[in-house]
Amino acid sequence: MQKKIYQINTEEYNNLTDLSETDQQLILAAREAAEKAYAPYSKFNVGAAVLLANGEIIKGNNQENADFTDGLCAERVALFFAHATYPDVAVKALAVAAKTGGKLIPGPTQPCGSCRQVFVETESRFKQPIRLILDGAEKIMVLDGADSLLPFAFKPDSLG
Ligand code: THU
Repeated sequence: MQKKIYQINTEEYNNLTDLSETDQQLILAAREAAEKAYAPYSKFNVGAAVLLANGEIIKGNNQENADFTDGLCAERVALFFAHATYPDVAVKALAVAAKTGGKLIPGPTQPCGSCRQVFVETESRFKQPIRLILDGAEKIMVLDGADSLLPFAFKPDSLG
């Protein structure tokens, strides 16, 4: 038996303006997308913005349903729309922001497990990591890839 410690690297920021222009732009796009979420049941408005390798920014937000299980998270709405529109263009970065009662949550906004799994698939598909920017009013966390959010993930090569 061996005990092992695995390391997760993060960057944490307390101020939006401490991030690069590109990251700030993506965060603002995610915050804007959160405004247009359809979240009448949870009243938790989530916005996601995806930066593609062609420079385009694709936005998405959570879409809820009276049959609660039929809704979809902001991150997957944005990613799936990006892939549907540009199936051959890699994803460079994704920012996610959440608002409730009209205010940003303190943060960092943590993506759900299913969204993490989809990040892993996107990284496998385009063979490159996605810079993940988890917004918040008090703390913004940046990760250099989905491995940090979902270690030991089920990936295409897990199928054997
Ligand atoms: N939600 C997202 O949009 N992204 C996540 O990663 C976590 C949760 C949405 C789903 C639902 O509409 C609401 O937030 C409350 O769970």
